[in-house]
Amino acid sequence: MTQDKKDKSAWRTQTRLVHEGMERSQFGETAEALYLTSGYVYDSAEQAEARFKEEEEGDYIYSRFGNPTVRAFETRMMALEQAEDARATATGMAAVTACLMSQLEAGDHIVAARALFGSCRYVVETLLPRFGVACTLVDGRDLDAWQAALRPETKVLFLETPSNPVLEIIDIQRVADIAHNHGCRLVVDNVFATPVLQKPMQMGADMTIYSATKHIDGQGRCLGGIVLGSQDYVKNELANFIRQTGPSMAPFNAWVMLKALETLHMRVDRHCDNAEQLTDMLVAHNKIARVYYPGHDSHPQVELARRQMTRGSNLIAIDVKGGKAEAFKLANTLEIAHISNNLGDAKTLITHPATTTHAKLSDEAKTELAITPATLRVSVGLEDGDDLLHDFEQALAQI
Ligand SMILES: Cc1ncc(COP(=O)(O)O)c(C=O)c1O
Repeated sequence: MTQDKKDKSAWRTQTRLVHEGMERSQFGETAEALYLTSGYVYDSAEQAEARFKEEEEGDYIYSRFGNPTVRAFETRMMALEQAEDARATATGMAAVTACLMSQLEAGDHIVAARALFGSCRYVVETLLPRFGVACTLVDGRDLDAWQAALRPETKVLFLETPSNPVLEIIDIQRVADIAHNHGCRLVVDNVFATPVLQKPMQMGADMTIYSATKHIDGQGRCLGGIVLGSQDYVKNELANFIRQTGPSMAPFNAWVMLKALETLHMRVDRHCDNAEQLTDMLVAHNKIARVYYPGHDSHPQVELARRQMTRGSNLIAIDVKGGKAEAFKLANTLEIAHISNNLGDAKTLITHPATTTHAKLSDEAKTELAITPATLRVSVGLEDGDDLLHDFEQALAQI
C-alpha cells in the first residue's frame, strides 16, 4: 500500500469526504480497495512477534483489532469532525455500549438525557446498573437538572440532540461546560443531526457516537457505528475494549460506509431541502395539530437549533389531529413514503413511535417525551420534493 502524503489540512469537508483515508495498493485502483480478510500473514515468526508487541504503528494482526478498510472509514470520519481518533463498530448500539462500558466501572454514576433512543435508554437505565453503574435521567433541555444530578462519582454525561422522536434540542456547549467543571466527560449521540450539520466535539463534547446505519450509509444497506474521541481515550480505553470484546465493524460494511461518505454532504443537503418544503406544508395544514422540525421557526428551541446545527436535518415529527386511528390512516395511505422504523434512508420512511420504537416505554415516560397516539415521525428521503408534498397532501385528504 502507498501512503497518501498530500497535505490535506486546507481541504474543505466535501473534498476530504471524497479523498481522506485513501491508501492505494500496488495496483493503483481509483476506488478504495476492500480488504475482506479476517487475518494477516507475517514474513517471519520474528515479524509476528514484533506485530504483537505493537511496535509498528498501522500494522494489522487480526480484523477484530483493525483492518485497512475499516481504518479508511475511521480516517474519513475523523476528518469530518476533526477528531483525533476513532473506532468503528458493528452497529450504532455497539458504539454506544462500547463507548460507555470502556470508560465506566462499578461505583461510577452516569447522567443521561431522558429523551434517548429506546435501546440507549436500556443501556443506561438497565444494563449499566447491573454492573454497578448508577444512572440518573434528566430533562436534557433543563441545564439546572444536569447540574443538580451530579454526584462526586459522576463520570459521564450522555445525550442525543435532536432527540428521537420529537426532536428536542439540548445545548451541547453548556452541558459540556457542566461536565468539565465537574471533571467528567460528555458523550453525544449525533445520529439525527449527522456530522455534516452538527459537530459536537467542536462544541466541547469529548466523544461523538454515530449509528452509521442511518444517514452515513444512507441507502438502507448495512449496519454500522463509530465512536470518535481523543487519541488518549481511543488508544487507552476504547481500542482495548473493542479488541477484547469484539463489537468490531465488518470490512465489507466499512467499505460501503466509506464510499457512502463521498456523497454524504450532497445527500444531507437534499434531505434538508425536502424536509423544509414538507414542513412548510405540514405547519399550514388543517389536519395537523403540531409539527416538530428544528429548522422551522415554529420549533420552541429554534434559536438554539440554529446556533448548533447548520440546517434542520431530515426528521420531522407531527401530531395528526385526532389520535391513533388518524395517524395509522395517514401512514397507511401514503404511496411514496414507506412504514418503517429506520431513518436516514434515501426512501422516505414513516414511523408510529408509540407502537413501535418507543412501545416499551411506560405511559408516563411517553408523556414526558411528548409521544402521543397521534405522533408520527417522518424521515424525509431523497425523492423529488414536489412528489413528496403531493403524497402527503393526498394522504391527509383521505383522513
Ligand atoms: C439516536 C440513535 N442512536 C443509536 C441508534 C442505534 O443504531 P443501530 O441501529 O445502528 O444499532 C439509533 C437507531 O435507530 C438511533 O436512532
